[in-house]
Amino acid sequence: MRSVITGDIEAVARHLAGGGIAGVPTETVYGLAANATDGQAVLKIFEAKERPRFNPVIVHVKDAGEFGKYGTDIPDEVYLLAEKFSPGPVSFIVKKKNLIPDIVTAGNETVAFRIPCHPVFQELLKKCGFPLAAPSANMFGRISPTTSEETLAELDGRVPFILEGGKCRIGIESTVIMFEGKTPVILRHGGISPEEIAAELGIRPGDIKNRTMEQVSPVSPGMLYSHYAPENPLLIAEEPVSDEMLDRLKAGYLDPVKFRDKKDMAFNMYSELRRLDASGCSMIICRLVDEAGIGSAINDRLQRASKGSISIRDGSPVIRNYRNV
Ligand code: TXA
Ligand code: MG
Repeated sequence: MRSVITGDIEAVARHLAGGGIAGVPTETVYGLAANATDGQAVLKIFEAKERPRFNPVIVHVKDAGEFGKYGTDIPDEVYLLAEKFSPGPVSFIVKKKNLIPDIVTAGNETVAFRIPCHPVFQELLKKCGFPLAAPSANMFGRISPTTSEETLAELDGRVPFILEGGKCRIGIESTVIMFEGKTPVILRHGGISPEEIAAELGIRPGDIKNRTMEQVSPVSPGMLYSHYAPENPLLIAEEPVSDEMLDRLKAGYLDPVKFRDKKDMAFNMYSELRRLDASGCSMIICRLVDEAGIGSAINDRLQRASKGSISIRDGSPVIRNYRNV
């Protein structure tokens, strides 16, 4: 089976209603979707991207009215944030109802809801009439796709349809957030920044807790560590690297100064990593950015994708903290 890129939303909706899976555009990255209320359909997502079953997937709904249909005990703060930032790049973790099969949440009592704002996805949700479970449309551990062609490159032969939606406007995944009492906890930095969330809640960004998915989901510690990774080793440079050194190392360079600003970097980063990966280099070197705004999400992805760091001492490269997983 070859995969087909199509603009036919109706046909993809019918295919999903019949228990199939499809690549779909969102404003963050492309997703691999199935009917979230159909455990057999969701299983196909896990198989297609070779994703371990312990990693739960996000449920995409058309509006906040659906939260109470598929979830329960939803904190007021979730509705407050959804009012401001949804539809958009933020996912809320709340207690689930039984309508959501266990495979979606990897056996957790909680489910992640997101209301995507991509018009094609919105139209698809309307035509389907059921919520869509969708992780990013990459093979497990790899770079998320931000165009239909990149989705095809990841999943060709593994999914019948990829719905065309252009290049993703944000380019980096949603912020995943939950509440412990009144305290917001960010599990993954993403399209909505901690500063924006804090401002809306009337608190300081420092009042938001940060935790990793591994701390709230029953997975082995560290199992999800290497993620968003290119084929070639990615190393984080502690200072700028000269062209001469890059040549000597046959290294591709993801240099923040080449982008207009951090939003532009987020928009292009995954495509740029793919391009460098395919360029015949032996490694990719990148630099981190300042943490403000979307910077925390950019740095999180680069750190998770990286194999270690590199610095230049007396004209020689020194690689530190190298890990093979
Ligand atoms: O922007 C996005 O969020 C994209 C688009 C397609 O919507 N989706 C996405 O899905 O990035 P995925 O599966 O690649 O990442 C979702 C993350 C996973 O790391 C998963 O562990 C976490 O959200 N997650 C989902 N449900 C969860 C739950 N109930 N508890 C804790 N973490 C959860
Ligand atoms: Mg992903």
